[in-house]
Amino acid sequence: MEAQNAQRRSYQVVIAATRDMGIGIDMKLPWDLPNEFQFFQDVTTRTSDPRKRNATIMGRKSWEATPLEFRPLPGRLNVVLTRSNCHSIPTDDDNVMVCGSMESALELLAKPPYSFSIEKVFFIGGGELLRHYMNAPSCDAIHLTEVDITVPCDTFAPRVDTCLYHPWYSSLPVVENGIRYCFNTYVRRKDLIFGSGVEAEQYSFLPKMVFERHEEFGYLNLVQNIISNGDMNDNNTLLSKFGCQLRFNLRKTFPLLTTKACLLYPFIFWVGVVEEILQLISGSTYPKEKGINHIWESDKAKEYLDSFGVNATEEDGDHPLLTGLYWSYSDASQEFNQISDVINKIKNNPHDRGITLSACKLSISPCQTFAQFYVANGELSCQIYQSSTEASLGIPFSIAAYSLLTCIMAHVCDVVAGDFIHLIVDAHVNTSHTKAIQRQLQISPKPFPILKINPAKKKIDHLEASDLDLLDI
Ligand SMILES: NC(=O)c1ccc[n+]([C@@H]2O[C@H](COP(=O)([O-])OP(=O)(O)OC[C@H]3O[C@@H](n4cnc5c(N)ncnc54)[C@H](OP(=O)(O)O)[C@@H]3O)[C@@H](O)[C@H]2O)c1
Repeated sequence: MEAQNAQRRSYQVVIAATRDMGIGIDMKLPWDLPNEFQFFQDVTTRTSDPRKRNATIMGRKSWEATPLEFRPLPGRLNVVLTRSNCHSIPTDDDNVMVCGSMESALELLAKPPYSFSIEKVFFIGGGELLRHYMNAPSCDAIHLTEVDITVPCDTFAPRVDTCLYHPWYSSLPVVENGIRYCFNTYVRRKDLIFGSGVEAEQYSFLPKMVFERHEEFGYLNLVQNIISNGDMNDNNTLLSKFGCQLRFNLRKTFPLLTTKACLLYPFIFWVGVVEEILQLISGSTYPKEKGINHIWESDKAKEYLDSFGVNATEEDGDHPLLTGLYWSYSDASQEFNQISDVINKIKNNPHDRGITLSACKLSISPCQTFAQFYVANGELSCQIYQSSTEASLGIPFSIAAYSLLTCIMAHVCDVVAGDFIHLIVDAHVNTSHTKAIQRQLQISPKPFPILKINPAKKKIDHLEASDLDLLDI
């Protein structure tokens, strides 16, 4: 990415736009969002090498639309594109460079001295140039602040082409001056080369502050923390941490963790997650009914577990992957069906403060003890309380399983999936798994996949595995 000796530099787009992709009105921004502006400043200014600076490329009108006190944008090389002899652009300022085309600007930036002094190249608009260069092949990433308003605009950006880009990160919604918005980063799709489980293409070309916002780092940091600072049990077999929390945004992507260095991982894992969730929603108890294959009992599952150096032990419970998966919150013998109750409340009484699924009364002690749902702004969020779980497989499984449950609930209740919050009270690592985990910690996350649920199926007990499709897995 951004090869310094390439003939042309590649770039990343940074813009903010309304729901309709409006970006300006009367040569101004259609909002006043100081924190959003600060994000723009930070992303375009920060460098990892203190001796370098970044370049910001903009159209002549965007240059003129920038308030005088911010012009030229400080700490950056301002590259202004114009086809005319425009007098508003200073020619004697080291921080400003005038170019006649995007191509000539990218070529100049690829040559000395800029190839050495410029770390990253950002293209910041406006609309006339975005039409040609936002989804162009040289654009590696798009940082788009989605401002959740519809206001009159006279300048627009094109929509992100999701055939070319997929989401890397989407922030939780922020509210400023009564306006709701979120920061999103889309990265250009890459062909992944698998070999010894590690992909060749990395995403470290992103600004560090964006790269590190991938939600998988929350999980990786938790596991690292358990290994480095966890409490050891008496017979030196378990390291644990008490009272941990992870949060995932379900609005654009699905948190199926991506750093497992195993080719079998995504498929086996996803099929297992779907199987368990459909089983639990059906209210039946183990063993499986409705002809669903029990994938965890297959040879492939054994192979999958072995690839992590994970062996089934008494300590792990009666099945290694089912530690923490006794969900039987809806016992077939119970007359009160909690799943139906939750759906009814989300649809008819969304502000009920007790939309809960509980497994506490059952004789089996389930590790996922409690789930609570919350509806706000037409979005459904879920928090689970998991009393105890193993971190290398149990936590990723629970994240995926309960995120899927949340997405299914949102789907059947006609709301949007919001956040999944995972409260893990006792998070532990079996000491025999630490080597496999340390290998995993060396791997950079990839974009999360996207969940599609069959729009024609709106009744929860009609859903089958084939209705739950994970794209870009
Ligand atoms: N929300 C956001 O993130 C954001 C970001 C940036 C801008 N904006 C807003 O967008 C508006 C300005 O955008 P705009 O679409 O009107 O103008 P623009 O794209 O910023 O600038 C257009 C000008 O750029 C030059 N230009 C265009 N294509 C060129 C090419 N291929 N090669 C060389 N020069 C080229 C021409 O300058 P000459 O006429 O001098 O030849 C043209 O008039 C303002 O309202 C601003 O506030 C919003």
